[in-house]
Amino acid sequence: MAACAPAQGIILEIGSFKGKSTVGLASIAQRFDLGPVVAVDPHSAPAVTDFGHGSGQSSWDDFQASLRTAGVERTVEAHRAYSSDLARGWTRPIRFLWIDGDHTYRGAKADIDLFRPHLVSGAIVALHDVLHTFEGPVRVFAEELLDSNEFGPAGLCGSIGWAQYRPSDGGAWRDQRCALRRRVGRLIAFVKDGREPKGFRKLRFKLWRGLVPHAAPDAAAWVRAVS
Ligand SMILES: C[S@@+](CC[C@H](N)C(=O)[O-])C[C@H]1O[C@@H](n2cnc3c(N)ncnc32)[C@H](O)[C@@H]1O
Repeated sequence: MAACAPAQGIILEIGSFKGKSTVGLASIAQRFDLGPVVAVDPHSAPAVTDFGHGSGQSSWDDFQASLRTAGVERTVEAHRAYSSDLARGWTRPIRFLWIDGDHTYRGAKADIDLFRPHLVSGAIVALHDVLHTFEGPVRVFAEELLDSNEFGPAGLCGSIGWAQYRPSDGGAWRDQRCALRRRVGRLIAFVKDGREPKGFRKLRFKLWRGLVPHAAPDAAAWVRAVS
């Protein structure tokens, strides 16, 4: 997605942790000469949204080591800050916005609201953990991307929800977005207010989740869809 988004601008990553996705994005940026990857994370682990990751230690040293090992440190403009701090004074156009930071509804909604004004036509927005039990990614994907005629083609690849910003003709994909919205929307009630579904509710959540199309798309077909 980062390589093929047909737009000029910055690749922005919100939420880097130890740099796994940063390295992926920076490798792509280096290979295709796409300019720097801007990565923002306070690296103040453990964050409430990171259960399973929470070692109690800052992720900053590991993040830097990951970049060095992959040889991409010069391609990454790292900001040890919250996304809201970076947004203050941000003016650069964005071609790929990767949201994987604060997974609460308030946090994920703030991230799209703060950086949406800087998306260039043709840019891709992608959110991690849409099919996980966090409230933020699934609600923002459904309510801000799938419900909006400013976005065109959209889909899921595993738990990554993506949509292309097409303010001039996004309405042409309305029916496809609405079909996906109906299936994704059923999950929201299970995770609303940050509640983790348990027992029978969890089983029902998993059943509905299985009905959301999320297979990896054929790469060539995907490029045609967003071109
Ligand atoms: C799920 S991890 C990111 C994983 C990473 N993208 C990867 O591929 O390994 C979430 C990260 O978001 C960061 N984070 C939480 N709130 C944030 C915010 N408001 N702005 C930027 N980063 C935030 C946390 O510090 C944490 O490192």
